Amino acid sequence: MAAAPHVPVPVGCIGAGRMAQGVLEGILREGKIAAQNVTVSAPTDRNLEKFKLRGCRTSHNNRSVVSRCRVVFLATKPHIIPSVLEEISPEVTAEHVIVSMAAGVTLQTLETNLPPGTKVIRMMPNLPCVVQEGAVVFSRGRCAGEGEANLFQSLVRTCGLCVEVPESYIDIHTGVSGSGVAYVYTFAEALADGAVKMGMPGALARQIAAQTLLGAAKMLLQSEEHPATLRSDVCTPGGTTIHGLHELEKGGLRATVMNAVEAATTRAMDMGRK
Ligand SMILES: NC(=O)c1ccc[n+]([C@@H]2O[C@H](COP(=O)([O-])OP(=O)(O)OC[C@H]3O[C@@H](n4cnc5c(N)ncnc54)[C@H](OP(=O)(O)O)[C@@H]3O)[C@@H](O)[C@H]2O)c1
Repeated sequence: MAAAPHVPVPVGCIGAGRMAQGVLEGILREGKIAAQNVTVSAPTDRNLEKFKLRGCRTSHNNRSVVSRCRVVFLATKPHIIPSVLEEISPEVTAEHVIVSMAAGVTLQTLETNLPPGTKVIRMMPNLPCVVQEGAVVFSRGRCAGEGEANLFQSLVRTCGLCVEVPESYIDIHTGVSGSGVAYVYTFAEALADGAVKMGMPGALARQIAAQTLLGAAKMLLQSEEHPATLRSDVCTPGGTTIHGLHELEKGGLRATVMNAVEAATTRAMDMGRK
């Protein structure tokens, strides 16, 4: 017999794209909530079909999601959010928890464009939520209390790491993790290309590069050691790894990665000011 849902509140999502699918899949997969208690809206059926197949309710009407659900995720592109807030505002009550995952949309924007007293949460996921290995941070608006934070975490924890942070960390999370996923893919590609250059078939090289990242990440999380300690453990004096690391230092890998995090964070901050 299927496990009973642990969170008996109806959950909605406005927007049905990749991130909506990632976050809701995590929630549904754990059986936290029954699929028929989830309603998703979008203008077209392009993405809604996947939710229909999953047993969720779907709609082209954003307001109906709010009237039917208590927790409502906003998962449209950031530039669409102002019109969505205006559209749903008449349906939002003090019972709702409105959760935005849109990059650069601040708690202040959410609160000022929704009725006074609305409980809002701003979350920032990353793409690996799709495989329940995401890194999610979130901040509460002025009217969202411990109860709303606990409800939110009980739903989203299934997507991976989920940590409450001051709102000023959210743009940094975008720089290090939202965008960081792409830096890691670039590193994985380069790692595999190096192996191809040395004669390994591409498919095998990509598989080994990905497993190397996975294994290294697991060791970092499980050991809780500083990365420099784990790195030095791999370096035999005069051995292969220190020769490889010297090349990375000559190429300025660490400074370049730090610059990338800074550039993406600054861009996220600029987008939030517009
Ligand atoms: N992708 C990431 O890695 C990532 C990471 C962190 C945060 N985010 C945030 O997550 C949000 C969604 O990103 P995404 O990558 O999932 O975008 P996406 O795949 O383009 O999905 C956007 C969704 O919004 C729907 N939509 C457009 N206009 C709408 C409206 N007026 N009312 C309701 N729904 C509407 C689209 O409908 P159709 O299905 O009809 O096209 C689509 O389902 C963004 O705000 C982004 O900043 C994304």
